[in-house]
Amino acid sequence: GTSASSTNHTKYKEIISTLPRIEGRWQQSQQLHEYQGFWFGQNILEGIMSAQEHLKAQPTDIFICSHPKSGTTWLKALSFAILTRKRFSYSSTNPLLSELPHDVMPFIDISAFTDITSRDPELPLLSTHMPYTSLPKSIVEGKCKIIYICRDPKDLFISLWHFTSKLRGTSAETFPLEEACQKFCEGLHNYGPYWDHVLGYWKASLQFPERMLFIKYEDLQNDTFSYVKRMAEFMGCPFSMEEERQGLVQKVVDLCSFEILSNLEVNKSKKHSSAARQYLKIEKRAFFRKGKVGDWENYLTAEMAATIDQITEQKFCGSGLSF
Ligand code: A3P
Repeated sequence: GTSASSTNHTKYKEIISTLPRIEGRWQQSQQLHEYQGFWFGQNILEGIMSAQEHLKAQPTDIFICSHPKSGTTWLKALSFAILTRKRFSYSSTNPLLSELPHDVMPFIDISAFTDITSRDPELPLLSTHMPYTSLPKSIVEGKCKIIYICRDPKDLFISLWHFTSKLRGTSAETFPLEEACQKFCEGLHNYGPYWDHVLGYWKASLQFPERMLFIKYEDLQNDTFSYVKRMAEFMGCPFSMEEERQGLVQKVVDLCSFEILSNLEVNKSKKHSSAARQYLKIEKRAFFRKGKVGDWENYLTAEMAATIDQITEQKFCGSGLSF
């Protein structure tokens, strides 16, 4: 009820006020709070605490997990298109043609959405940007399947910098790239440090390979077709020979391509994504920028690139992971 949730609200606020805090510069006057080894803005952190306390994941649930700007929108579209291929054809009835991919499944990091009772009962998909170690118990203990996507830290940083520039709005002063790079390297952004986020899921994927599918954005770009088949197998709905013969795998690839999705009216819209509701006013079109690998080369100085690469090497050393 309302009073219980406002009590929780106060409770989370009180806990948050005791946490280490720093001025984030990505959005105007946004403070970041350190919780379980990562940094979060107040609204998101309240949502995460609420999800940790209340979320009851079903063992059949499949979670789309990522750090923001890793390719979440794409992965959501692909997983949705794969799972609903019998319900929706690839004609005009497909929800992906009229809704932002973020809006076709719940996003559990926002407290309003931890009440997932209103979700589509036929769709087992849920999403989160939470670090692995902060996932609600019911996800880990329920052995839910997880698909995680990550990306070259340099491209992720450039994508994040553009995205947050849009959130700041045109009236705000710009956040100089060099300063942003420094903050990124220190992990001072929502859900940062990025490297620790990736490592948490990477280690879990080595430990529990049957319930985790770990995907790199670059690999997905390189061979989307194979990954669509692999995702379908992983989610327990492999493409049949007949479906393959009908070209359904390629249809999923095409429908979810950057070219198709980014040119849909809905995804060019300045309307706000409903998945994030009132907390994060994000225009739908902000989720589509270039969709390319290696765009960092157009922005980063050699020095900035080297700094990021050095951290990547250090952090991933001995993990078997590289970019
Ligand atoms: P760029 O800013 O490098 O273009 P997220 O979805 O996690 O917010 O990540 C956004 C990034 O994914 C953006 O990267 C965006 O352009 C890219 N993207 C969005 N939809 C995509 C798609 N269908 N295929 C490939 N990349 C996509």
